[in-house]
Amino acid sequence: MAPIILPSQAQNVKTRPGTPRDVEASKDVKLFQPSTIRSITIPNRIVVAPMCMYSCQDGFLNDFHLAHYFSFAFKGAGLVIIEATAVEPQGRISPEDSGLWSDEHIAPLKRVADMIKAQGSVPGIQIAHAGRKASMGSPFAGYRIIPEEENGWSKDVRGPSELPFDEKHCQPHALTKEGIQDLVQMFTDATVRADKAGIEVLEIHSAHGYLLHNFLSGNSNKRTDEYGGTLENRMRFPLEVAKAVRAAWPEHKPLWLRFSSTDFKEPEQFANDPEGWDIYQATEYAKKLKEIGVDVIDCSAGANISGVRYPTAPHFQVPFAETVRREADIPTGAVGLITDPIEAEQVLQEGKADYILLAREFLRDNGWALRAARDLNVTVKWPNQYERADNERWVGKNGK
Ligand SMILES: Cc1cc2nc3c(=O)[nH]c(=O)nc-3n(C[C@H](O)[C@H](O)[C@H](O)COP(=O)(O)O)c2cc1C
Repeated sequence: MAPIILPSQAQNVKTRPGTPRDVEASKDVKLFQPSTIRSITIPNRIVVAPMCMYSCQDGFLNDFHLAHYFSFAFKGAGLVIIEATAVEPQGRISPEDSGLWSDEHIAPLKRVADMIKAQGSVPGIQIAHAGRKASMGSPFAGYRIIPEEENGWSKDVRGPSELPFDEKHCQPHALTKEGIQDLVQMFTDATVRADKAGIEVLEIHSAHGYLLHNFLSGNSNKRTDEYGGTLENRMRFPLEVAKAVRAAWPEHKPLWLRFSSTDFKEPEQFANDPEGWDIYQATEYAKKLKEIGVDVIDCSAGANISGVRYPTAPHFQVPFAETVRREADIPTGAVGLITDPIEAEQVLQEGKADYILLAREFLRDNGWALRAARDLNVTVKWPNQYERADNERWVGKNGK
């Protein structure tokens, strides 16, 4: 792996891109307040949500990822969470997903993490297992089952039960208890590697119909052993993973976890689905995660059962972040159709969440953090190399 020369910003926390120039004048704007959990300080509340880029070979991050993740950090995002990264090859959604199942994956990840850090942003990663949604094509390669002859593993897809997501996804094998314990170890090993790569915030993926969510929900988990049935049993494997990961992850580094707050079996946000998965069970899960030492819950929703309607609208998942924050007394991240900086600020001001995560809006505008500062009348530090484009400081000065 070729060494890179890091175009570093000043490392003083006050001069990181995306931090207020006048801390006192901006102290009422929550989006630009730093937060320290354990000993990691995120310079503002703006988070790049994990987004699969389906651009790896054998799980290795490459120059595309370096440029892609750099662009958000450079322009002031406080925390950049690197895409869902599989803990075993069969845990990828597509053959082009990122992975952390071997020590060889550490160096390319470290390159990206170092680059993010050098911009004054915090490097995070989401560790994941795709469960019964594995061995599929990327959206741009055509979302379809990828067979063995095309580098897929369609006959080796795992889930809690032999229940596929739908007829367009692979037929999963039900994991044995030994298989479950092996996976706890794989999550643990990936955690140790993420630490070695210099990642500072680790997020466990237990959302969107992937393996841990498959276990949590009675809609996908039909087991009759101690890993299925009651809520306590359905939570067992995800909590074992969280416990093992917390033990392997350094004490001074924050642990986040993303869950789907409901399966949306009914389109009402707070519909009851006690045999399946709903916000009430998700809140109980959050309480257990807090006891284990998870620091932040990133509250997403859905994607575990096919053919259901979502109450899609701007901020439609924010009520989940608000409920979990209040009921489980744990910091939360709000995500989903949040695009407007002033509305994002309102979510924080109203105490509905502690962090704002954006996915697609960051793809549209990787300088969203700088835009948010302008819209909220906060004068923030721009990256050194781009400072002359900071209109507020340069317009009218020498006319050039
Ligand atoms: C291209 C793309 C890839 C995504 N990959 C992931 C992922 O790796 N892990 C994850 O938890 N969510 C993933 N998501 C979901 C986003 O993180 C986010 O929750 C969702 O897009 C809603 O936020 P938005 O309205 O700001 O886009 C992805 C979304 C997009 C658009």
